[in-house]
Amino acid sequence: MLNKLSLFKKLSLSALIIFLILVVGFVWISQAIESVSRAQAEQELHRDLAAHLVHDNPLISSEQLNSDTIGNLFHSMMILGANFEFYVLDNSGKIINFSAKPNEIIRKIVNLEPLNNFIQNSQQFPIYADDPRGNEGKIFSAAIIHEGDKKIGYLFVIVRSKIYDSVFNRLKNNQQLKTILLVAATSILFLFALIFLSLHFFVQPLRDLTKAINSMQQNGFKEKLSLIEVAKSSSEINILTDAFNQMIAQTNQQFDQLKLVDAERRELLTHLSHDLRTPLSSLQGFLETISLKQDQLEPKKRQEYIERSLKNAQRLKHFVDQIFELAHLESGHVSANFETFPIAEILYDLKEKFSIKVDKKKITLQVKLKNEKIQTSTDIGKLERVLNNLIENAIRHTPENGVISLELVETEINNQVQIIVRDTGIGIPEDEIPYLFDARYRGSKTAEDGERHIGLGLTITKKLLNILGSEIKVKNNDGSGASFSFQLTVI
Ligand SMILES: Nc1ncnc2c1ncn2[C@@H]1O[C@H](COP(=O)(O)OP(=O)(O)OP(=O)(O)O)[C@@H](O)[C@H]1O
Ligand SMILES: [Mg+2]
Repeated sequence: MLNKLSLFKKLSLSALIIFLILVVGFVWISQAIESVSRAQAEQELHRDLAAHLVHDNPLISSEQLNSDTIGNLFHSMMILGANFEFYVLDNSGKIINFSAKPNEIIRKIVNLEPLNNFIQNSQQFPIYADDPRGNEGKIFSAAIIHEGDKKIGYLFVIVRSKIYDSVFNRLKNNQQLKTILLVAATSILFLFALIFLSLHFFVQPLRDLTKAINSMQQNGFKEKLSLIEVAKSSSEINILTDAFNQMIAQTNQQFDQLKLVDAERRELLTHLSHDLRTPLSSLQGFLETISLKQDQLEPKKRQEYIERSLKNAQRLKHFVDQIFELAHLESGHVSANFETFPIAEILYDLKEKFSIKVDKKKITLQVKLKNEKIQTSTDIGKLERVLNNLIENAIRHTPENGVISLELVETEINNQVQIIVRDTGIGIPEDEIPYLFDARYRGSKTAEDGERHIGLGLTITKKLLNILGSEIKVKNNDGSGASFSFQLTVI
């Protein structure tokens, strides 16, 4: 049930409970201190009362301690001072004569230890002794009764002071106390009102914040969220509001970014379908011609159409593979399969693989490195895909007699080697460099090779390198051509 209460109610309730506990505690402690100090003063005041009585009344010292004469003496003393009760005890503490009415006595023996302490001049007042008429300890005065040198008993006087009157009784009879209490009660009420008001004031910004968050939730996050405004008051709530506003700003930013990514994706999809449509239509066109004309087609023409269909189909497959690879890399589910191997080996393998293609174009493809033993731990398949894309681009953009170098350079940073694919080709206009890795971006100077390209090679390359924990960089060479480079960690 407590959980259902609002923060304000909880705080108010706790303040009320704490306040009440404090008030009750304070009253109880002051009452206790007051009663102890009164008892102490009263006992101090009557310290010698019993001794004087024994000394001044020869009757008490006589041997008939249980006689009616002493009883009568006590009775008359009690009439004079109604706050005292007189008892005569024998040496074992047994009550042998007393001033009270017999039916009031509920105890026959009084513990003598506090009496002896009192008589031996203890300074530790108040001392409480058994009350023959009740169960609560009482302050007292006591003296030893002697018969000659013989100790024959004790005179035990209970001081029944009015201090034990209850607070309520005192209140009833004291106008001044009544006024004080009234003032105290009014102050307490005023204080409560003050506490409630300040709590209400402090909790208000929190309410505003909750209201703002709730209304935001009701809006369903369909559009950009507006920042929350809360009156400047409590610093903690302002900090919370600021943190929340920061979160809103971040959400808005992500919202914008999502919208942008979504728009880009739609656009990419439209363009990619367009890219696919062209080879698909030519494939369809050739196949329809072959199918329609059948035997009317010259065997040479027929063969040419079939070859062109095949080329279009191959290109289509290449595009679909590229699109699929990009989608797969973007899904975030691709991880690297790390293996340790010498980098030189893979560079020489690639040189071998592209040898026919570069020979055909009269380009030199060379491997440049100082240390053949450098080993790295990386995903071989992905590294090959990266270098493949870069070498294919370099071959396409390098004219006859050009040189492409696959370089392995040790860097100053510990454990890092740089792999560079450097060509002596046409280079890249500086203002186009920032867009080179965007999907479907093709530069203004792009070299064509009779094949269709859709501009996904470098996008895929960049994503592959990200998975390998590396980053691709590109720059134009001092002489001619461009260099694409990235770093790998050496084992
Ligand atoms: N070595 C290079 N020299 C000059 N320009 C280059 C080089 N490599 C890439 N580019 C430019 O960057 C563009 C993007 O390259 P990317 O590999 O992404 O696409 P693509 O090669 O045109 O098509 P795809 O790789 O999908 O077949 C190219 O179109 C070209 O303009
Ligand atoms: Mg390419």
